Amino acid sequence: MVFTGAGVSAESGLRTFRDSDGLWEEYRIEEVATPEAWHRDPAKVLRFYDLRREQVLAAQPNAAHHAIASLQAHFEVEVVTQNIDDLHERAGTTRVLHLHGEVLKARSTVDPTLVVPLNRPSLALGDRCPLGSQLRPHIVWFGEEVPLIPEAAALIAQADHLIVVGTSLAVYPAAGLIHYLPRSAPMYLIDPNDVEVARGGTHHIKEKASVGMPALASSLIAQLSGR
Ligand code: APR
Repeated sequence: MVFTGAGVSAESGLRTFRDSDGLWEEYRIEEVATPEAWHRDPAKVLRFYDLRREQVLAAQPNAAHHAIASLQAHFEVEVVTQNIDDLHERAGTTRVLHLHGEVLKARSTVDPTLVVPLNRPSLALGDRCPLGSQLRPHIVWFGEEVPLIPEAAALIAQADHLIVVGTSLAVYPAAGLIHYLPRSAPMYLIDPNDVEVARGGTHHIKEKASVGMPALASSLIAQLSGR
């Protein structure tokens, strides 16, 4: 299992949220990433995600995304990501679960299961779903349910190894997923900074993702496929 956050895409030019130059230093969550913000000023919320969508469309997967994809040739790999970009998929990873939504998709405001692809930078007021309702970004906002948590927990509970890359583990319920990992399974954390991890025996690789992930992938491939 690979569990990723914004840090895995930082070297692709996509800002993280809580680092010194993070998005939440510049934007107020209450104004752009809550259902209340959407009801108060939908145009402002749409502008915020248009900008992020533009950045995602212009970004490329980095060495960390490619290293994760390369593991698939040797192991069964599942990625659970908090990221709304499609860089894991563009690097060739086939099984990716997006806990917090996908910025290249839009969702109906009357039927949340009605999700449509959005391969253009802008989503505007007046863009309607097939049922005629205003489309909103297909993002899980603060204060909203995270419907894929049970599926992600079930996957992590079956894992032989867990690799955590580029997440501050500050946002719940996603951060709680590490506790579903079987006690016997090793957990690796790749992050150049300190991260509070409430799980003993975690191997913290204090490197940027583009360095730490290829190195770990090679050593796991050598170690495990040698059996
Ligand atoms: N390589 C690896 N890790 C990095 C790198 C890098 N190049 N650069 C930064 N990091 C690490 C930081 O040290 C930090 O621990 O990535 C982490 C990013 O943490 P956050 O900004 O909090 O992002 P994330 O954990 O993904 O946020 C979780 O919060 O804002 C919401 O919905 C949003 O999905 C997001 C959730």
